[in-house]
Amino acid sequence: MPITLSKSVHQVIHEVGEVGQYLWQKGWAEKNAGNLSVDITDHISITPANLKKFPIKPATGLLPEFAGRSYLVTGTGTRYRDIQKYSSECLCILQISRDANGFHLLWGGKREGFKPTSELPSHLLMQNSLHQSGAKEKVVLHTHPNELIALTHLPETAGEEKLNYALWSMIPEAKIYVPRGIGWVPYRLTASQELAEETVKALERKHKVVMWEKHGVLAVGKNAIEAFDLIDAMNKAAILYLLCKQTGQTPQGLSREQIDEIGKTFAPKD
Ligand code: 13P
Ligand code: ZN
Repeated sequence: MPITLSKSVHQVIHEVGEVGQYLWQKGWAEKNAGNLSVDITDHISITPANLKKFPIKPATGLLPEFAGRSYLVTGTGTRYRDIQKYSSECLCILQISRDANGFHLLWGGKREGFKPTSELPSHLLMQNSLHQSGAKEKVVLHTHPNELIALTHLPETAGEEKLNYALWSMIPEAKIYVPRGIGWVPYRLTASQELAEETVKALERKHKVVMWEKHGVLAVGKNAIEAFDLIDAMNKAAILYLLCKQTGQTPQGLSREQIDEIGKTFAPKD
């Protein structure tokens, strides 16, 4: 018997389903591309006696500080477009076991052979880093936005400094919404520990959006919609950049002074 979900968890699932539709409509979620986790520890209460009814599914690479924390995560192979309709097949709620040797599957995961996303190590490391730093962000969203990925393939926009300058120079909102810019993680094998560790370093540098070179983007937010909005805003800047390039000309762009002025006027408060 799965746990009974509170209203607040239903709301989280509803938002994740909605964002899954946006990602699909944007063309950033081909097949099973992307994955997501939400720290819902504050919304899950279960007695030790009840927890015992959910056998531990072994998992490696979990740190002791993850113990007892609860997450809503997508399953590996899940299509974002399916989440809204089939949430309990596409998502699961897991609680990391007391000894951090695995997790209890409390809800969902109803699809045959269900396993959490292959990027679970990245998600848990990022979630832990957010939690330890007292951040308000609870959602880690990974997706494959076309134009941002394309820019990581072009020498003139590859790398943290060049990418952020190109994006910020396209439209003031890129600097306003993502004032610290996108953190850059050089290409690493999908689902590898190296990818997870490099991503956490970018978060610790206070980036809310992180680029995985030649792969995709991660964003953190207080909810799924906020994380989506950050990627959407930056991908719009990437589209503008590529539209200008398609004319055969180099975009004029906002100057460094104009970008600095925006940065000072709309400096982040956190
Ligand atoms: P999963 O289906 O395992 O979540 O993988 C999708 C993905 O985008 C890997 O980076
Ligand atoms: Zn991916």
